[in-house]
Amino acid sequence: MELEALLHKEELTKEEIAALLGLTDKKERQRLYDAAYAVKLKYIGNVDHYRGLLEFSNRCIKNCRYCGIRRGNEAVERFDTSREDILAMARWAYEQHYGSLTLQSGERQDPEFIAFVEEILREIKEIGGGALGITLCVGEQTEETYRRWFEAGAHRYLLRIETSNPALYARLHPQDGHHEWTVRRDCLLTLKKIGYQVGTGDMIGLPGQTLEDLAADILFYKKLKIDMIGMGPYVVHHQTPIGRAVMAEGGDSPAAREHRFILGLNMIAVTRLCLKNVNIASTTALQALNPFGREFGLKAGANILMPIVTLPRYRKQYLLYDNKPCVGDSPDQCRNCLEARVHSIGDRIGWDEWGDSPRYFTDHRLSAEKPGIAEEQEQ
Ligand code: 5AD
Ligand code: SF4
Repeated sequence: MELEALLHKEELTKEEIAALLGLTDKKERQRLYDAAYAVKLKYIGNVDHYRGLLEFSNRCIKNCRYCGIRRGNEAVERFDTSREDILAMARWAYEQHYGSLTLQSGERQDPEFIAFVEEILREIKEIGGGALGITLCVGEQTEETYRRWFEAGAHRYLLRIETSNPALYARLHPQDGHHEWTVRRDCLLTLKKIGYQVGTGDMIGLPGQTLEDLAADILFYKKLKIDMIGMGPYVVHHQTPIGRAVMAEGGDSPAAREHRFILGLNMIAVTRLCLKNVNIASTTALQALNPFGREFGLKAGANILMPIVTLPRYRKQYLLYDNKPCVGDSPDQCRNCLEARVHSIGDRIGWDEWGDSPRYFTDHRLSAEKPGIAEEQEQ
C-alpha cells in the first residue's frame, strides 16, 4: 500500500505497522512524523506535560541483563534518598509548577520499602492540598501493595513490559524464577483492575528484536488499553552482560546507535498513529543517542517530558545506560533547558496541570480480565 494511504488507515495490521517502523528514507520518515504530530494536535494539542522524575533509590532485587543498576553490578554504589530530601524535591517540583511527579527506584518488595513508599505518597499528597499528580515506577508488586499505594495517593503506575515477546524477554533476563514475563503482564492487568492510569513500554533496538516484535508491542499496548507509553531505544551499559555482548560484536557503532535512535522515533510516531489519545513520553534515552533526541520525540508525536529532579549528588549512581544526559545538571538547569526545547518546536508546557491520559476517561476498562493477546503470546 502507498505510504500516504497507510498513514491515514484506521486499523493497521501487524505487517503494516512493521513496514512503517522500518522506514529509513529521510523524506518518508518526515511524512510519518508529520502525520503522527497531526494526530497529537488533534487528540492532545500542542501542549506537553512534565513529570518531574525523582529517582530515589538504586537498590534493586532484580538482575535484568541490560541494566546498569542490576543487582549483580557491584561497581555501583547504592543510595537511598531520605524522606526529607524526597519531600523537599517534591515541594520544589510543585513550586516550579510541574503538575506531576514520577517516583522511580529499583525494585524492592520488602515490608519496609512498601511502608516507606506508602508514607511518602501520603506526605507528597499534602503538598499544595493534593496539587501534584503522582506516578509510581517501582516494579512488580502484589495486588495488596498496589492497592495500598493507590489508596495513599498514587494514581498512575508505569511498568514497562520491556518486550511483548516472552521468548525475547527470557533472553534479556536471568532464568532464576524472579523474572517471569507472565507475572509482569499480570501486574499490568492488576493495576488496571485497581483503577490506576497504567503505563507500559518497551526497549527499542534490542539485540535479537525484530520489527515484527516491535509491531506486536504496539498491538499489545492497544489490546491492554494502556493509557501511557514510556519507551525508548536500548542504550548500551558497558558493565552489563548484554552491553558487553553488543560491544564485542561491534554492535554499538555510531551507525548502530543512529539506527536505534531512528527506530525509537518511528516507534513513537507509529504508536501515536495507532493509539491516538494516549500519553507518550519522549524519554531521556532518546537524548542519550542524539543531543536533540527529546525534541525529535515531541515532533514525532510524544507529549510527555520527564525532567530529572533527582538530587544531583545521586545522579551518577542512577545510570541505567551509558551516556545518560543531564547527569551533571541541577534540577534548575533541567527545567530551563527542557522549556527551551519545548518552545523550539512550537509546543507549550501545561504548567500546573496533571495532563492525564485522555484515553483513561474514554476507553480504559478491559472487557475480560485477561485479554486474548497475552495468551496468544504465551503459546
Ligand atoms: N537502555 C535503555 N533503557 C534501559 N532501561 C534499563 N536499562 C536500559 C538500557 N540499557 C529501562 C527499562 C526499565 C526502565 C526503568 O529503564 O526499560 O523499565
Ligand atoms: Fe532493576 Fe529496573 Fe534495572 Fe531491572 S531495569 S535491574 S528492575 S532497575
